[in-house]
Amino acid sequence: MKTKGKQVLSIAVILFVTVCLTYYSNLIVWNGISMNDLDKESLTVGSVRKLLEEEELVTERANSNGQQKRLPQCVIIGARKCGTRALLEFLGLHPLIQPADQEVHFFDDDRNYNRGYEWYKEHMPYSYPKQITLEKSPRYFITEKAPERIHQMNSSIKLIVLLRNPTTRVISDYTQVYYNKIAKGKDVDKFEDLVIDKKTNQINTGYRAVQISIYYNHLLRWFKFFKREQVHVVDGDKLITNPLSEINKVEQFLGLQSRVTENNIYFNTTRGFYCMRTPKTNQKCLGLTKGRKHPHIESSILQKLNEFFRPYNKKLFSLINQTFDWDD
Ligand code: A3P
Repeated sequence: MKTKGKQVLSIAVILFVTVCLTYYSNLIVWNGISMNDLDKESLTVGSVRKLLEEEELVTERANSNGQQKRLPQCVIIGARKCGTRALLEFLGLHPLIQPADQEVHFFDDDRNYNRGYEWYKEHMPYSYPKQITLEKSPRYFITEKAPERIHQMNSSIKLIVLLRNPTTRVISDYTQVYYNKIAKGKDVDKFEDLVIDKKTNQINTGYRAVQISIYYNHLLRWFKFFKREQVHVVDGDKLITNPLSEINKVEQFLGLQSRVTENNIYFNTTRGFYCMRTPKTNQKCLGLTKGRKHPHIESSILQKLNEFFRPYNKKLFSLINQTFDWDD
């Protein structure tokens, strides 16, 4: 009778352990790691489980999945309207990258910054130690204090900056503000009225959208604090037409094996942009506020903008030792 009881107990224990392990495997798979979409050979459920057993579960049990919130090891600092959301979402397909869903605005907002690193960390997603926590707040790029503040938090942090044809970026910026104003029932200005200084008939350097596109000025501030190899520059125009090549370069920059493939990203003809295949929703495109139709701009104004940005672009290319195909 006693032996029978022991046998039943042993079977119950084995069943319990098996159920727990299966549960963990699925949690990991559905927490951003798609076994369907990703390279099955190099990241099997078994290998992820091993990773957990070896390190996370033993050492840092923080939530029921064995994950913790961490300060970001990589930050997408901008620039606004250069594809920052698309890049963040695409990178989230990588099993070893854990992006924060929301822009946290820690380094550009004094109120948030004064709340301290614990507050910042609270806004980060749960992750395993081998995963990279990633945050994006495009306003960091133009915020005077942001480079020094980020450097103070982590001087060896990795930074990603997206740049796009500066003229297109101005138009994209204008388009976003235009629709926001319309939605709030506010009056809207004509593009040419904002971008051209009526007195001089030259580009209005007081227009914020123009200022943001003078990438050289902003990056100069960042390179006072960070080495060139700490900053990866993504081509925002190529991210639209050939996202995979830009994503693969970021994976390399982060020291990760390439995991995002054609299986995860496809061109959606209805949307006119690349979208993702995710385990949760199967297909996911960015919201309709991304990739809006731009207004028609007179060619004389486009030319003026291009001419205005050209000398800054030249200086930028030599600063970052990288060139872009931005010439009209
Ligand atoms: P437009 O709306 O002007 O086309 P951000 O996320 O930094 O605000 O950038 C928005 C821009 O991301 C969009 O500008 C769009 O062109 C670009 N983008 C890049 N890849 C995209 C994608 N896969 N889906 C939608 N927009 C994308």
